[in-house]
Amino acid sequence: MACTLLLAAAVVAGCAVGLSGATDHIVGANHGWNPNINYSLWSGNQTFYVNDLISFRYQKGTHNVFEVNETGYDNCTMDGVAGNWTSGKDFIPLPDARRYFFICGNGLCQAGMKVAITVHPLPHTADLHDNSGSDQVPPAAAAAASGGLTVAVWQTVMALAATIVAVA
Ligand SMILES: *[C@@H]1O[C@H](CO)[C@@H](O)[C@H](O)[C@H]1NC(C)=O
Ligand SMILES: *[C@@H]1O[C@H](CO)[C@@H](O)[C@H](O)[C@H]1NC(C)=O
Ligand SMILES: *[C@@H]1O[C@H](CO)[C@@H](O)[C@H](O)[C@H]1NC(C)=O
Ligand SMILES: *[C@@H]1O[C@H](CO)[C@@H](O)[C@H](O)[C@H]1NC(C)=O
Ligand SMILES: *[C@@H]1O[C@H](CO)[C@@H](O)[C@H](O)[C@H]1NC(C)=O
Repeated sequence: MACTLLLAAAVVAGCAVGLSGATDHIVGANHGWNPNINYSLWSGNQTFYVNDLISFRYQKGTHNVFEVNETGYDNCTMDGVAGNWTSGKDFIPLPDARRYFFICGNGLCQAGMKVAITVHPLPHTADLHDNSGSDQVPPAAAAAASGGLTVAVWQTVMALAATIVAVA
């Protein structure tokens, strides 16, 4: 019974993460942040939304991460530097819908340690925009819409959890 409850809790927790909508995009997937990887292929296969995270995994002290602007990205320079990270497991928030450029600052940018991404506006906000016919979505309306979705999903989750308990 304890195991069943744990399983149900895991299902609920999993859905809660899904509800928040934020994705952690691990640069290079299991290859991490290292030289001689084509990160254009990786980024081309990801869709980034506002409030997602991009994370860089590497051996601490060996590499690092700098946010630069497009000039810095194209030329492997510190042009437009806006931040740096060195922990080896760097989670970088993406709060704005815009292009972001990251390079390694230890000389290995030239060896391919550079990644450019485009962060898109949240899709459900865009849908509301399309339907409303106005430029502004009142925050209350947006909150009500997402609240309604949350309740519906929550009920589904609870029904699913109840089923799991019943089967066990
Ligand atoms: C990465 O791959 C893309 C698509 O195949 C290619 O256009 C680009 O030149 C490659 N970049 C490097 C640095 O090899
Ligand atoms: C792109 O993503 C798909 C689905 O996750 C995966 O099968 C494929 O290998 C990825 N391609 C690259 C170049 O990472
Ligand atoms: C890269 O640097 C060169 C000269 O250092 C400059 O002319 C060029 O504009 C830079 N690239 C971009 C995209 O700005
Ligand atoms: C990047 O920043 C540098 C100044 O640090 C600036 O001269 C350059 O125009 C910027 N490039 C872009 C594409 O904004
Ligand atoms: C790295 O970021 C810190 C703040 O987080 C700043 O004090 C430092 O000057 C930065 N280093 C470089 C080389 O830009």
